[in-house]
Amino acid sequence: MVHLGPKKPPSRKGSMMDVPRDLLEQIAHLEKIFTVDTAKLKAIVKHFVSELEKGLSKEGGSIPMIPAWVMNMPTGKETGTYLALDMGGTNLRVCEVTLGGNRDFDITQSKYHMPAGMKSGTADQLWDYVAECLESFLKAHHPDKDTCQMHLGFTFSYPCSQDAINRGVLQRWTKGFDIDGVEGHDVQPMLEAALRRRNVPITVTALINDTTGTMVASNYTDPEAIIGSIFGTGCNGAYFDYVKNIPKLEGLTDLDPESPMAINCEYGAFDNEHVILPRTRYDVHIDETSPRPNQQAFEKMISGLYLGEIHRLVMMDLFEQGYIFEKQNIDALREPFSLDTSFLSQIEEDPFENLTEVEDMFQSKFAIKTTEPERKLIRRLAELIGTRAARISACGIAALCKKTGRTRAHAGADGSVFNKYPNFRERGAQALKEIFDWTCEPKDYPIRIQPAEDGSGVGAALIAALTLQRIEQGLPVGLREEFRRKQE
Ligand code: GLC
Repeated sequence: MVHLGPKKPPSRKGSMMDVPRDLLEQIAHLEKIFTVDTAKLKAIVKHFVSELEKGLSKEGGSIPMIPAWVMNMPTGKETGTYLALDMGGTNLRVCEVTLGGNRDFDITQSKYHMPAGMKSGTADQLWDYVAECLESFLKAHHPDKDTCQMHLGFTFSYPCSQDAINRGVLQRWTKGFDIDGVEGHDVQPMLEAALRRRNVPITVTALINDTTGTMVASNYTDPEAIIGSIFGTGCNGAYFDYVKNIPKLEGLTDLDPESPMAINCEYGAFDNEHVILPRTRYDVHIDETSPRPNQQAFEKMISGLYLGEIHRLVMMDLFEQGYIFEKQNIDALREPFSLDTSFLSQIEEDPFENLTEVEDMFQSKFAIKTTEPERKLIRRLAELIGTRAARISACGIAALCKKTGRTRAHAGADGSVFNKYPNFRERGAQALKEIFDWTCEPKDYPIRIQPAEDGSGVGAALIAALTLQRIEQGLPVGLREEFRRKQE
């Protein structure tokens, strides 16, 4: 049958009709373990708020709550041309951003693929590669120009303790990175040394997290955007607090207690103690076999790096128990991380009632022949995993709003899961509705998670501009000198 209508999921009601009883029982079990109901969402948010507070306290907690040394939002009048270097989880990007002074900007950029082995290579390989990409961008765009006057915003999206805006000591790698010799060190001198080895005379004006950049860039075009969040390879959020609410800064800065301070929460680490999130044994397996067990508990249930793997683990389990893929060779599926999150998106997007696209996908990628009931289970499982991720991730935004006492807010959001995973936004909005007991229509929801401006490009440029303004005005951009770490 040729499908002519718009892409829409098949009606769930009829769709389970031909599924045999033993598979229906498995589906019911999966629904039970992957569903997060309203009461659980509310309990997660409550605990989340107290963990955010704990992270700001002198004793600290498992959410790092890192003061990011961005102390004001842009006015929209910022001008100038800046370089931005973005080292996220998958690609490396170099941008040149010109701020127009009227909440507008121009951007020129080049993307570079991070070679697969680099995530577990050496620190020298990493920094040399980053420097090489920046050098090649400058050669292509400024062959004759003396670039040493250009200011660089370096978006390094991993938890870094910052004693000043241009410095950051990597606390620990996240997102599957495992490169020796970087954790516990300030990344700024490492990058600058690699740049000097190539005679690229550029220094880092601001070291930023992608969430902080996303918040600032979103606020540049939408002043109601006061939270920045990423749902991509990793998951994290940033917001503005006041110095007076950050006990761990007490006595360490010359800032007015009323001064705002951007906080890079690093809340992918929420619930590292495993007290509230409804983890399944598949989540436990992912954690235990990851390069950093007992870290990033929240992120491991939400982010793009893990969703496909959760799905794969469930299928493997059902196969081992004899429920699916009977007598088939599933060697290709045995490979860890062989099913990535975009595959899950495609499963959810198959428009056909009998899921023929899923059938083709399993044939071509894994050489597995699927029956229609198996495909229905596969699709339902994808929905459950995607829905759980969206609902849990909304808890981070809700907790930030509760903590700051906001009942209305926009959160600028970016990342592959937010931008590409089907229904992620709607499912997140639905979770917010349940958490806050809203009764209005979706279009009137007072807290909205919406597509952000480019945080790691435009946001990095804006933060570099804001930093230079503060330096010119003699305002602090870090801890008092005596409390800073000695340069390495
Ligand atoms: C990981 C990183 C964090 C980043 C997030 C999104 O959680 O630790 O710094 O913001 O991924 O990229």
